[in-house]
Amino acid sequence: MVLGLIRNLIKTAMLVALLLFLIQYWLRNKSYIFSDKAVANIAMEYVGRNPQSVYQEISKHFLRQYSGHILPADDMQWIFMNAGGWMGSICILHASITEYVLFFGTGVNTSGNSGRYWANISDTILTGSFRQWKEGELKSTVFGPGETVYHYWGEASAVEWTAETWMVEYGRGFIPSTLGFALADTIFSTQDFVTLFYILRVYSKALLLEAGTALTDVKAFFRENL
Ligand SMILES: *[C@@H]1O[C@H](CO)[C@@H](O)[C@H](O)[C@H]1NC(C)=O
Ligand SMILES: *[C@@H]1O[C@H](CO)[C@@H](O)[C@H](O)[C@H]1NC(C)=O
Repeated sequence: MVLGLIRNLIKTAMLVALLLFLIQYWLRNKSYIFSDKAVANIAMEYVGRNPQSVYQEISKHFLRQYSGHILPADDMQWIFMNAGGWMGSICILHASITEYVLFFGTGVNTSGNSGRYWANISDTILTGSFRQWKEGELKSTVFGPGETVYHYWGEASAVEWTAETWMVEYGRGFIPSTLGFALADTIFSTQDFVTLFYILRVYSKALLLEAGTALTDVKAFFRENL
């Protein structure tokens, strides 16, 4: 009885370890649609301008360059995000299992824990300031407009944004694993289930868009090659 339980536990642990290993292998070897540099280069063209109008231009820019991978304007929505003690707002342009591109910022001074993710995240600042205090360091660094802040997988830091800081963010890794942190404050603290619904809805729409685009690509491949 006890022996059987232990055997099952060991089996489950081995299966989980294998799964994590396979995902990590896949993440390191798959090809990606976006890159840190490509996203930062687009954002850099719009640094310092009024985010209200510039975000529309940036999303059109992405739509031109990555058509089939950017949500239509109708599906883009600013959604409050509470996580790690801070409060911000996100607007998702692209999301898949392994990548996302979004606008992020806040209208108030806010700070908290960045979260530790299974994803590399880079933020290119358009306006405002971003203070990052890395684990193990005794002082923090402030980044301003035009600078890109990197947050590598497995890292945690303290983050602080001044009111009206806005940026373009790119994430690459196992994106479903970031949802736990992204949604924990919403579920256990703010209990804002409308926001929870919005986040899950837009993520589902983005995944469906990717699936549709992949299907179109497969069809085109067969049409050209058969
Ligand atoms: C937000 O932070 C900035 C910079 O630290 C400070 O000057 C400003 O007074 C703060 N605003 C509020 C409303 O606390
Ligand atoms: C994340 O960043 C690290 C450090 O630069 C790199 O070794 C790793 O390949 C990156 N992961 C992905 C999925 O790009």
